[in-house]
Amino acid sequence: MNILVTGGAGYVGSGLILRLGEEFSEATITSIDNLTTGNYRFIEYLKRDKRYRLLQGDITKSADLKKALAPDTGMVAHLAAVPGIKLCNEKPQDAINTNIYGTHLLLEAAVKCSVERFISISSAAVYGTPQKHPISEEHPLKPINLYGVTKVSAEQLVEACYLTRGLSTTTLRLSNLYGLSAYTPWKTVIPRFVSQAVNNEPLTIRADGKQKRNFVHVQDVISAITRCFKAPRQAVAGETLNIGGHALSVNQIANIVVQEGQQKLNKEVSKAYTSLELGEVYTSDFEYDYERASKKIGYEPEREVSQGISELFDYALKTKAE
Ligand SMILES: NC(=O)c1ccc[n+]([C@@H]2O[C@H](COP(=O)([O-])OP(=O)(O)OC[C@H]3O[C@@H](n4cnc5c(N)ncnc54)[C@H](O)[C@@H]3O)[C@@H](O)[C@H]2O)c1
Repeated sequence: MNILVTGGAGYVGSGLILRLGEEFSEATITSIDNLTTGNYRFIEYLKRDKRYRLLQGDITKSADLKKALAPDTGMVAHLAAVPGIKLCNEKPQDAINTNIYGTHLLLEAAVKCSVERFISISSAAVYGTPQKHPISEEHPLKPINLYGVTKVSAEQLVEACYLTRGLSTTTLRLSNLYGLSAYTPWKTVIPRFVSQAVNNEPLTIRADGKQKRNFVHVQDVISAITRCFKAPRQAVAGETLNIGGHALSVNQIANIVVQEGQQKLNKEVSKAYTSLELGEVYTSDFEYDYERASKKIGYEPEREVSQGISELFDYALKTKAE
């Protein structure tokens, strides 16, 4: 069997490819990625093994998808996206094209190939500003930025395909990611803070920093995806599951980074306050309910935020020294 990962050169995708290789030792694994934000550099060595095909290609091009979907493709993990509020605001056409049209084309190709499992990666951005807590999968979908709008549209395309085309789909809505993957791009708030500390820059905190976020370790997300692939079809087909971790304010995160930085770098780490991004959610609470994922796939976040910050520091210092 072949497993296709879209966005396999990215933060989640690169780590997922390594884990799938370990947990599905009989399978071949193909990635399609157009390398706009991702980079195969850190998993390039896998190319020496015939089990892995790391392709450069675009999910908005049918010909590229045809090459990526080997005839025996049984599972698809769809991660390719223009991710995050900032990039979607900067490149709206690419965001709509990749996140919506690309998802449509991929679903069509998956139906054609009789794929058995299709996991699509979505985001807590679909909820917008929380209207009630905890935020379960039943919370209204009220995105307040283009990123969230494209993710809601992609979810609806996925659901329509489940309802009318018989594709066994599952959507995973991720909260904010942190932690080490094969390729760690330092762009989400925790990796960014660590990178700023190591590079002698102040930690840039948006607004007053009292806004809460839910933080989930990238390796816990990867576990959720593999658990989903392994779960009985009837447990996950047509499901949407929140995948979350621990709720902390941005100030709390900054304080952990400052403390850890003082220990690891032996110097003061400063902070600077700046304005929110256009369309960024500001909320003093972010209780993210992943109970359904616990019941359906036995998901639990295993990593603590402080542990994830410590490993990011060690990695940043090691790679800076290399
Ligand atoms: N990182 C987070 O905090 C977070 C939170 C919630 C949801 N997500 C979602 O998780 C998924 C993975 O995100 P990530 O953090 O790994 O981001 P990433 O940017 O590291 O990975 C996305 C990958 O998709 C590729 N890509 C973009 N457009 C493409 C196209 N048209 N064709 C083929 N490849 C394309 C990029 O080159 C990149 O490698 C995304 O769907 C994202 O929306 C991420």
